[in-house]
Amino acid sequence: MVVMILDGKACSERRLEILREEIDESGLNPHLATVIAGSDPGSQMYVRMKHRTCEQVHIGSVGIELPADATTGRVLEAIRRLNDDADIDGILVQLPLPGQIDADRVIRAVRTDKDVDGFHPLNLGLLFSGKPNFIPCTPKGIMTLLAEYHIDVAGMQAVVIGRSIDVGRPMAALLTNADATVTLCHSRTKNLADEVKRADILVSTVGRAHFITAEMVKPGAVVIDVGINQLNGRLVGDVDFSGVREVAGAITPVPGGVGPMTIATLMENTFLAAKLRACNTVW
Ligand code: GUN
Repeated sequence: MVVMILDGKACSERRLEILREEIDESGLNPHLATVIAGSDPGSQMYVRMKHRTCEQVHIGSVGIELPADATTGRVLEAIRRLNDDADIDGILVQLPLPGQIDADRVIRAVRTDKDVDGFHPLNLGLLFSGKPNFIPCTPKGIMTLLAEYHIDVAGMQAVVIGRSIDVGRPMAALLTNADATVTLCHSRTKNLADEVKRADILVSTVGRAHFITAEMVKPGAVVIDVGINQLNGRLVGDVDFSGVREVAGAITPVPGGVGPMTIATLMENTFLAAKLRACNTVW
């Protein structure tokens, strides 16, 4: 079977180019603020990549860096300032936050019309009601990638592994809204391999290197790999790419699949926030 490689890097680059032109033509001057607490190298790298991509598409950006021992109050104060800052369109709090910080309170503190991550319960509720406004970037980016490759999930058996609020749950909602029949699996799912084998489209957010092997995958399935894992000094996904590509109909690589789509979607969400605020939209 000839497998289709879903090239998130190329797709995101095309979309960023279009976005930059749209921003230039809009006359708007969108701004993203990032908030990071602590010095986790992975989180710092992601935040740097977000700022670099902002520059590429002519979105202004500011970074608030808080110490690893910052209190919940300190983070909430930073969010309050950004909420009140008329120049800021989007606010992104890099997760995970250090353990002493109440992440739920922080997520709820972000103004819903600046919540470009889409993690606020109101935005998640809108998504689950089928009337989304801001949609979390990773699952939205995956839907964009599927659309770019003309993969219509309507009527498909979709299996999502992982029930996090940033990927698994919103992914299940988006697939449901797109008329797939969705099974949301998690760490307590019985007979996971049986569930996976039924999938016409599989989205894995397990976080374990090469967890999904060729024998587990239905021939011709669309396989979306959200995992980013280190294996022998290499970056690999949840999916054993070289084995699974022999049975799948379509597959995302790691790196170069879902990751670049997430960042491109953050840029799109930030421009959306700027446009909505410019229109003074009330929702
Ligand atoms: N940490 C890992 N992925 C993400 C993301 O998409 N958004 C935020 N805010 N933090 C993350």
